[in-house]
Amino acid sequence: MTSRIDEALPRLSPDDFRLMRDLIYSYAGLRFEDDARVLFERRLADRLAAVGVPDYGAYYKYLRFSPLGPAELEEAVERLTTKETYFLRQEYQLRAFEREILPRLAQTTAQSRRLFVWSAGCSTGEEAYTIAILIHRSGLFHGHEVRVIGSDISKVAIARARRGIYRHGSFRATPPEFVTQYFHETSEGSQVVDDIRRMCHFGQLNLLDAARVPFVGRVDVVFCRNVLIYFDVNSRRRVIDAFYERLLPGGYLLLGHSESLLNVTTAFELVHLSDDLVYRKPVSSERWDGGAR
Ligand SMILES: C[S@@+](CC[C@H](N)C(=O)[O-])C[C@H]1O[C@@H](n2cnc3c(N)ncnc32)[C@H](O)[C@@H]1O
Repeated sequence: MTSRIDEALPRLSPDDFRLMRDLIYSYAGLRFEDDARVLFERRLADRLAAVGVPDYGAYYKYLRFSPLGPAELEEAVERLTTKETYFLRQEYQLRAFEREILPRLAQTTAQSRRLFVWSAGCSTGEEAYTIAILIHRSGLFHGHEVRVIGSDISKVAIARARRGIYRHGSFRATPPEFVTQYFHETSEGSQVVDDIRRMCHFGQLNLLDAARVPFVGRVDVVFCRNVLIYFDVNSRRRVIDAFYERLLPGGYLLLGHSESLLNVTTAFELVHLSDDLVYRKPVSSERWDGGAR
């Protein structure tokens, strides 16, 4: 049903919608179906006035050909992405991470004394801080260099992640003791305590940007949850290949509950944990890389 508000919005023709959709896809890997035209109209309406163009045809040309087009494309993607997230999301998987994966990693990293975890598509940071809290409370990595790297294509989300201040909605699945132990109250909401914030490092990153992804370094675990659902199979392949490259041999890949590597790759092995199935880069997969990590 179209509302009065929708009727007042500038119209996006099917042709312009297809052009815009393809542009968003080639930049961010996000796949939108035909019924997303209304979503585009709603979420991008204010951008026409913001960049001073009369209609979507002109907006598309601005995105493609203006020197400010690349920055505006980021703005458009900012509005079209779903950033839904909260602490302790997919609790069964986090339990498996805490009880089974972390103890294994404590053994395999005993020599290197280094644990790097990447939250790829971390949105506003709840996932990265959750991971840091689980590592911290495991008590298994004292004396290790521990880093949780949170990245997202959204600049706005990354700025919020860095502040680490959250309101009620982020705690919808959080027991009270988790909040009292790892947050302190501020006038704007509950902020993650410094010990945990120090473990987390956030940066804006498009997962399809093959030139910049290597800056993440080599990691022991990749969490990429509820991101691949927005990609088509080609974008998934590109991103999963990048994760494979970034993971150390024996490193783990944890996806969202509705996501899998089916039809994407067979390079990972499936590991059966008591509460979950996760992927692992085979230990025997190391190529010689000069010892770089
Ligand atoms: C639904 S959130 C998932 C947040 C968190 N991983 C979770 O499961 O709660 C999806 C995130 O993926 C990000 N995203 C979408 N396309 C991306 C891309 N090409 N590169 C990096 N992040 C992307 C969005 O900005 C959004 O913050």
